[in-house]
Amino acid sequence: MRPATERLCRVCWSATFAKEEPAIDPSATRELTYGLFVLTSQDGGKDNGCICNTAAQVASDPLRLMVSVQAENLTREMIQRSGVFNVSVLTEDVPFETIRHFGMQSGRDVNKFESFPATKRSANGLLYVTANTNAMFSCKVVSQQELGSHTLFIGEVTEAKVLAKAPSCTYAHYHKAIKPKF
Ligand SMILES: Cc1cc2nc3c(=O)[nH]c(=O)nc-3n(C[C@H](O)[C@H](O)[C@H](O)COP(=O)(O)O)c2cc1C
Repeated sequence: MRPATERLCRVCWSATFAKEEPAIDPSATRELTYGLFVLTSQDGGKDNGCICNTAAQVASDPLRLMVSVQAENLTREMIQRSGVFNVSVLTEDVPFETIRHFGMQSGRDVNKFESFPATKRSANGLLYVTANTNAMFSCKVVSQQELGSHTLFIGEVTEAKVLAKAPSCTYAHYHKAIKPKF
C-alpha cells in the first residue's frame, strides 16, 4: 500500500490523508533494457559461472565492460580473488535449462561445468560458453565498487570474439519467451 501523508483540511481543520506518489517507484526499473549473459571466473583451479543481466560496455578506448554481481554469489568471490572474468553473450534460442543451470543454483553446491561440456578456454585461462552464445569477452578487473547488495566490477577487455550471428537474448525476451509460466 502507498504511504498516506497526514494534512489538515483548509475548511474544517480536521486531519485528512492524501495519497502521494512515492519518489521511487521500483517498477520503473522494469522499463530498463538488458541482455543476458553467462559470467564466468575461476579460483584455486575451480571454474564457475552465473547468469547475469547486468553486463554492458562502459568505455571504448580502452574497451571496458561492467558487471554487477550479487554479494552472496560464488562468482563474485572468484572475480574478487582472481581479478578476471569472462562474459558469454546468450542468444534468443538459449534453453531455460541453461538459465536454470547457471542462474538458479550456486557453484558452492554443485560443479556447474562438470555437466556442461559446451565450453572453451580463453587466453586468460577461464572458460566461456560456446552453446547458444554469439560473442565472448575476457576482462581484467580495473576497479570495483561495493554497492550493498551487489559489487560493481569494471573490466578492461583483453580478448573479444564473435561466435555466431544469432540475435542476442534480452532480459525481456527471457521473461516473455523462455521463462516457464507456472
Ligand atoms: C535471469 C537472471 C538474471 C540474473 N542476473 C544476475 C545479475 O545481473 N547479477 C548477479 O549477480 N546475479 C544474477 N542472477 C542470479 C545468479 O545467476 C544466481 O544467484 C546464481 O545461482 C549464482 O551462482 P554462483 O553462486 O555459482 O555464482 C540472475 C539470475 C537469473 C535467472
